[in-house]
Amino acid sequence: MIFDEYSIKSQVRPVPNFPKPGVTFRDITPLYQSPRAMRMIADSLIQRYVDSPITHIGAIDARGFLLGAVIAYELNKPLVLLRKPGKLPADALRQSYQSEYGESALEIHRDALQAGDQVLLLDDLIATGGTFLAAARLVKQLGADVYEAAAIIDLPDLGGSRLMQDADIPTFTLCAFA
Ligand code: PRP
Ligand code: HPA
Repeated sequence: MIFDEYSIKSQVRPVPNFPKPGVTFRDITPLYQSPRAMRMIADSLIQRYVDSPITHIGAIDARGFLLGAVIAYELNKPLVLLRKPGKLPADALRQSYQSEYGESALEIHRDALQAGDQVLLLDDLIATGGTFLAAARLVKQLGADVYEAAAIIDLPDLGGSRLMQDADIPTFTLCAFA
């Protein structure tokens, strides 16, 4: 299915003053509720990575899981979970970070990746970039490489994609709200 940026953007709902006054939250639940939009998004990402050297999909808790599962299934690659703290049961590495709304952290199982692995990180949206930067640090601590970090939406005014570029993390988004 041909990617139609206008159609995708028009199905992202702006919610004023959430989660705090002055913030306009870009709500992606209408996209996930639309089979046509999800197919468009998934097809674009599959086309981009089908002939790439990626070995693993690294999906970010929680909204990135939904995208990650679809892409890992279609590309027939192992799905590695980057989870919010305290959720992974086995030995895990933790990376704390500052998000748009406060302090947070991600964890990854120590045996989930190894040297030489090429990881495609997936999430729904880039805001301050804290989440993807933390995920990339965890991947690198395990000796693996971030092939690219991909999301549906970039919010460039929050500076995250720029910080990721500065940190030499190849970054790809399907659309942006400036
Ligand atoms: C949101 C979003 C990204 C992150 C983006 O997740 O899904 O993961 O914030 O913000 P950043 O670029 O400033 O780090 P959230 O932490 O709200 O978790 P959720 O997916 O569980 O809702
Ligand atoms: N929408 C969805 N998730 C987010 C946002 C947003 O505007 N900002 C940070 N995480």
